[in-house]
Amino acid sequence: MNEQAILQSAEAWVKKQLMDEYSGHDWYHIRRVTLMAKAIGEQEKVDVFVVQIAALFHDLIDDKLVDDPESAKQQLIDWMEAAGVPSQKIDHTMDIINTISFKGGHGQSLATREAMVVQDADRLDALGAIGIARTFAYSGNKGQPIYDPELPIRETMTVEEYRHGKSTAINHFYEKLFKLKDLMNTETGKQLAKERHVFMEQFIERFLSEWNGDM
Ligand code: ADP
Ligand code: NI
Repeated sequence: MNEQAILQSAEAWVKKQLMDEYSGHDWYHIRRVTLMAKAIGEQEKVDVFVVQIAALFHDLIDDKLVDDPESAKQQLIDWMEAAGVPSQKIDHTMDIINTISFKGGHGQSLATREAMVVQDADRLDALGAIGIARTFAYSGNKGQPIYDPELPIRETMTVEEYRHGKSTAINHFYEKLFKLKDLMNTETGKQLAKERHVFMEQFIERFLSEWNGDM
């Protein structure tokens, strides 16, 4: 298969697996991240095939989604081998998806420009109007309140606390989302993150003013 055909086939395979997923990692998240990664990748002059295949696969090894991340990784490798992806590109793809997760600020440093592009695309989908919607959807799914003024914002936290500690949708903006604009890797990513950041600040300002009964 040529690269275009491999991408189409990967897309169909991923779509089938994520169709009934509502925790914020649904197929449309993957689609947006893949389109964004391709667009940024073209600006940054990187291997857009690897960028796209890594974007398509990036959440399939997440411990929030699969019970056994190790066997999920092996499945991806097997799929790429069967599709005829060259072994060096398989290694690169696996390296990207193994290293891009945020994990409460405990993320790893990235080895390649391609990894930086995919991470920026994934982070951009946590920002802006979509990011706001996903935060409230995730909170509802986990049974977190939209807001609780009594619950302090956590400045630092372990991976365990980030995943399972008590929080709210509004706290998540301070615990993660507002930090992302300064963590972007690429110039294109930085610019887009800045715009989405401003939009979220306006949203939070308005949310808090309505919360406090302002007219
Ligand atoms: P992680 O950064 O831990 O990999 P994800 O990116 O997988 O988290 O999270 C999926 C979506 O849910 C994102 O939009 C993210 O901002 C949101 N989200 C993650 N953790 C929380 C949380 N504790 N409260 C509200 N939203 C969250
Ligand atoms: Ni993602």
